[in-house]
Amino acid sequence: MRQTLVAGNWKMNGSLDANRQLLNGIKAGVAEGVSAKVVVCPPAIYIPQAASLLNGSHVSWGGQNLSQEKSGAFTGEISADMLLDQQCEYVIVGHSERRALYGESDELVAQKYGAAQAAGLIPLLCVGELLEEREAGNTESVVARQLDAVIDKVGIAAIAEGIIAYEPVWAIGTGKTASPQQAQDVHAFIRRRVAEKDAGVAEKLQILYGGSVKPDNAVELFAMTDIDGGLIGGASLDAEGFLAICRAG
Ligand code: PGA
Repeated sequence: MRQTLVAGNWKMNGSLDANRQLLNGIKAGVAEGVSAKVVVCPPAIYIPQAASLLNGSHVSWGGQNLSQEKSGAFTGEISADMLLDQQCEYVIVGHSERRALYGESDELVAQKYGAAQAAGLIPLLCVGELLEEREAGNTESVVARQLDAVIDKVGIAAIAEGIIAYEPVWAIGTGKTASPQQAQDVHAFIRRRVAEKDAGVAEKLQILYGGSVKPDNAVELFAMTDIDGGLIGGASLDAEGFLAICRAG
């Protein structure tokens, strides 16, 4: 059995005051008992705040992005070791906003995945198609290309140590969720693709769904065979709503 994991991607939202309330709310709710593994990914500057408030709790934290480089003259970047210094366990890699707005290529995403893993972080690799790619019938080829770029770089064994999030770009922040069956179909495709290289890795691999997950659709999404939890954007900014999603797992 794969454990359900629910990760909150706060994106560029928050403030010290708002985060304190949100983190304390999540911490209290999780302390009451949630079977899913719960992770929050605040903006980097607030990771120390999350680390101090969540220390000793059952909530883990992670980064939203990292540099592929170890250190040096890379103004504005944050390395895997720096995230580890703040006791991050996870880091999101290749989110569609990074790919679309900051030009992250499949190759760069693969390098970041490798850098995260080499440092001991668990990479949460995002893959997913644009609306026009889905409409053109290219969902599987796009997802396969994004996945293969990473597998080719780090090897199939390394995929076992990471997590994948299928996030159809047309469903992110739009209120349009993929139907449970649409999501399941792509999750099953991802698992089959990994199984072609290593069936054991495929069986264990956690594959999350992301894209307008809300308390009222999480139960049916998480009930699908190959959906092992969610990567939550907008709905992760409200403690009660986020906890309701965590309890759906
Ligand atoms: P959303 O974002 O839940 O706001 O659609 C998901 C994501 O971008 O990870």
